[in-house]
Amino acid sequence: MERLQKVLAHAGIASRRKAEELILAGRVSVDGQIVTTLGVRVDPRHQRILVDGIPIEAERKVTYLLNKPPGTLSTVHDPHGRPTVRDLLRDVPERVYPVGRLDADTSGVLLLTNDGELSYRLTHPRFGVEKVYRALVQGRITDGALRRLSEGVPLEDGMTAPAKATLVWRGDRRSLLELTLTEGRNRQVRRMCEAVGHPVLELTRIRFATLTAEGLRQGSYRRLRPSEERKLRRLVGL
Ligand code: URA
Repeated sequence: MERLQKVLAHAGIASRRKAEELILAGRVSVDGQIVTTLGVRVDPRHQRILVDGIPIEAERKVTYLLNKPPGTLSTVHDPHGRPTVRDLLRDVPERVYPVGRLDADTSGVLLLTNDGELSYRLTHPRFGVEKVYRALVQGRITDGALRRLSEGVPLEDGMTAPAKATLVWRGDRRSLLELTLTEGRNRQVRRMCEAVGHPVLELTRIRFATLTAEGLRQGSYRRLRPSEERKLRRLVGL
């Protein structure tokens, strides 16, 4: 017997956290009974588990790569009706969820998957998966500020882990940096740059693990190639 949210995550329905939200929202049933409490233990081999009325084993595991445009939310549904990344994946039949989040104003590489375990591993800092960002920041950044970004910056939720911070170019009023992080805290790049005195003007994620948005226009997406999927899974020990 396993916890229902873990079973949902392993079945590729959502991350564990998202699976908890699905349960609390009353979208999950076990043997015909809607379950809205967390911690219920189930046996997926002998019990019939449905999400939105669909058996959980019915869906194959898939991962898509989206070149996210600015102005879209990294959620599946917005109660205020604002455009979400899910709206862009028009022809995707599977229930895929963003792997981590990009801010509404951030553009670039965003993966979406229905493989909960893969999503968990790609975002948990323990697995050390690299995310590379290009940040256009205000002001002429100094070598000292770059060093501080790479050594760690104190934020209200603790010091950031060592990162790679390289200069692409700097002018008198603006500079362009490349930051490679293995953490994925909320608004991390923006908060790090702000903390060293250089607020972000524009932010793009140019790489997630081995994947870039090369050949994909903003707003377009594609399914990962089998070789890319294998590589990604191997990277996080799956
Ligand atoms: N860091 C940020 O500040 N924003 C993002 O969208 C991603 C990383």
